[in-house]
Amino acid sequence: MDPEYLTGIEEIDNQHREIEETAAAVLEALEARDKWHIVHYIVVRLHELLRFHFTVEEALMRITGFPELDDHKRVHQEMLQIVERMKSATLDPNLGKDSEILRKQFSFLTHIVDHDKRLAEFMVANVSHLKR
Ligand SMILES: [Fe+2]
Ligand SMILES: [Fe+2]
Repeated sequence: MDPEYLTGIEEIDNQHREIEETAAAVLEALEARDKWHIVHYIVVRLHELLRFHFTVEEALMRITGFPELDDHKRVHQEMLQIVERMKSATLDPNLGKDSEILRKQFSFLTHIVDHDKRLAEFMVANVSHLKR
């Protein structure tokens, strides 16, 4: 992961790594033209990881007084909606035919952690050094 996205909080950084790996696996499965149920399974896993991660991240932002909590939560909600749409799109047994289109639509997945840059800066400056 790009160092500018490291928060210095191990739990969050580990979650980000797993989310990035799972998001990359979705794109690889589409590229390999894997069957719809394989792609769908990985998208479902990604959705679960994100839901859990966003809950943890939002609690952490609330506890630490992160000043952009509301905007950040909105981004989380938008991302969850996109991934929910992906879940439906990957239920199509004819997925293989449209995998190129889906790959373009889902290309944001390679930047899935990017919206946390300011959060990472805040945590590094104000919170992560307090950990023992
Ligand atoms: Fe976030
Ligand atoms: Fe995050």
